[in-house]
Amino acid sequence: MRVHLYGNQLRLRAVTVFAFALFCIISFGHVEPAFGKDDGVTSIFSPLAQPAQEIKETSILVLAVCAVIFIVVGGLLVYGLIRFRHRAGDEASEPPQVYGSNQIELAWTVLPILIVFVLILVTSRTIADIQNRKPPPGAVQATVVGHQWWWEIRYPELGIVTANELHVPASTGNSHQPTFLKLQSADVAHSFWVPQLAGKTDLIPNRENLMWIEPTIPGTYLGNCAEYCGTQHARMLIRVVVHPPDEFDRWAREQQQSASIATTVVEGQKAFFANSCVNCHTIRGTSAQGKFGPDLTHLMNRETLGAGAVTNTPDNLRLWVRDPQKFKVGCLMPNMQLTDQEVNQIAAYLQTLN
Ligand code: CUA
Repeated sequence: MRVHLYGNQLRLRAVTVFAFALFCIISFGHVEPAFGKDDGVTSIFSPLAQPAQEIKETSILVLAVCAVIFIVVGGLLVYGLIRFRHRAGDEASEPPQVYGSNQIELAWTVLPILIVFVLILVTSRTIADIQNRKPPPGAVQATVVGHQWWWEIRYPELGIVTANELHVPASTGNSHQPTFLKLQSADVAHSFWVPQLAGKTDLIPNRENLMWIEPTIPGTYLGNCAEYCGTQHARMLIRVVVHPPDEFDRWAREQQQSASIATTVVEGQKAFFANSCVNCHTIRGTSAQGKFGPDLTHLMNRETLGAGAVTNTPDNLRLWVRDPQKFKVGCLMPNMQLTDQEVNQIAAYLQTLN
């Protein structure tokens, strides 16, 4: 009777483990898009750049080896469970007890060692390949600083500071123009992950990590912070916008400009400078030089607000200025208790920053 119960528990446990493993396999490598767009879902199995392509090849090899091991071990286990299951009438009998077979013990010691050794070699070669890549002349250099909960993006050589949307050129045919990133953190550990471009690399306080990407297909690539970093970790989204080379140069020239001051929004500008906005935000060409929050000089060129929390539309911008906590609870920009008039004026001013 006890044997029978144990068999049921074992099966239940096996089914649970299998269901959990299946869930992990299906959800592994997928990140939620910013706005629930189906086409925004991104996967490590459809890489569109180096080094993601190289990482995928290694992953497939590792997964294939693991799948073979899983099938062999799982198959033997299921065979054993069925073939030698409890039958009526064999209450008293015990199966033959076999100890010590040199051949079998050698086989299951040597074989796993060989498999692990092959996997170590392949993985180390891939890691070394990726880490030893040196920036070729003309490579774009950018510094990405993780903040709770947004990305500061600097191009020291180009004199550009922006946020949340990393713009890079595409490599074409014979002109390699990879982008090399220095990753830093202003507070806690974050992780930069755009699955279709490259693997994850952490941003650690008081340390600088390096990574590079070399996309060839222009477009917008979505990614996430991949290291739990506090309340709004899930809304710390990254967009990488890949441009054809000449378009990237145009984008860079536009970003290098100081903010244009439209005479139609003088009231909003005054309201912006009269409140504490300037303590946290920089608008180049004005006296706003705050460093705590995102640079707003070319805010209107960005697709989203709050690091992917909402799309950058006039309505959302107004709602964000009124109370950022509505879209992003816990974010470090407080509700400034502005009047309706101030909200409208400041939003109108910000909309001229393109
Ligand atoms: Cu930043 Cu998670």
